[in-house]
Amino acid sequence: MSLGPLQLKNPVLCASGTFGTGQEYIDYVNLSRLGAIVSKTVTLEPRLGNPPPRLAESSFGLLNSIGLPGPGVDAFIAEDLPLLRSCGTLAIVSIAGQKTTEFGELARRISAEEGIAAVEVNISCPNIEGGGCFFSDDVDAASGATRAARTHTALPLFVKLSPLVTDIVEIATSVLDAGADGLTIANSFPALSVDWQGRKPRLGNITGGLSGPAIKPITLRLVWLVAEKTRAPIMASGGIMTADDVLEYMVVGATACQIGTANFLDPQVSIKILQDLQNILAREGIDDINSIIGTLKEK
Ligand code: FUM
Repeated sequence: MSLGPLQLKNPVLCASGTFGTGQEYIDYVNLSRLGAIVSKTVTLEPRLGNPPPRLAESSFGLLNSIGLPGPGVDAFIAEDLPLLRSCGTLAIVSIAGQKTTEFGELARRISAEEGIAAVEVNISCPNIEGGGCFFSDDVDAASGATRAARTHTALPLFVKLSPLVTDIVEIATSVLDAGADGLTIANSFPALSVDWQGRKPRLGNITGGLSGPAIKPITLRLVWLVAEKTRAPIMASGGIMTADDVLEYMVVGATACQIGTANFLDPQVSIKILQDLQNILAREGIDDINSIIGTLKEK
């Protein structure tokens, strides 16, 4: 199937930050069956990330405040990329800068390497100061980061949007105009979890990003809004736990789906979803999964 310029063997992908470089899952999952793996976000310099605790469960969801820890792009290329490349499926590398120019530099460095299928520009991490949502909340900042990356790579470029903006269609349109080939909708929702008896936040960084089934109906609406208005290739990400969730997102206009939080509940969930998807399509007599995309009947 075609996701803009990218050819996928199926629409089931693993989301950035929930699947490492794939190697963490190699004993549990036949990685070559996946549509693609999106790497943990890579930054220019090494980052320690946020203080613990970094995860807090909530009803039907999970808050994370990881803070984009990582070894930086040099170590990623030397140590992690060979593993990601050897997974037998497409490698999409997620990048995030603290400044607009860093998106360009990261795109340049990543594109110089072999075996990378696409770049996901993460402008929407809710857990870092001065980067992340700073870019996704503002049309000029979002398009600036996208343009910086676009200028330095010929690889397919997808931009991961924040769900918490006044007008997601406006932001989506601006990054597409700046050269993005498609969109990932969306990152986690800025959120807070509190231990009222201790009068304390449950996360070391106070706030975090909410993901999981709690956010699926909200993200579903965002995908629908953007798909209707832009017709852009979209990877959906937001509370996908089952094959029916994948089909819901495809009906509202997504071409592919990234499995995130569900991986923490069951490391084999992506393959189970893929298998279920094939069974459902066979049961329903649907020969071509592409025929599902954008078929919501609004009246
Ligand atoms: O905190 C984190 O590392 C999360 C990243 C993201 O949601 O983009």
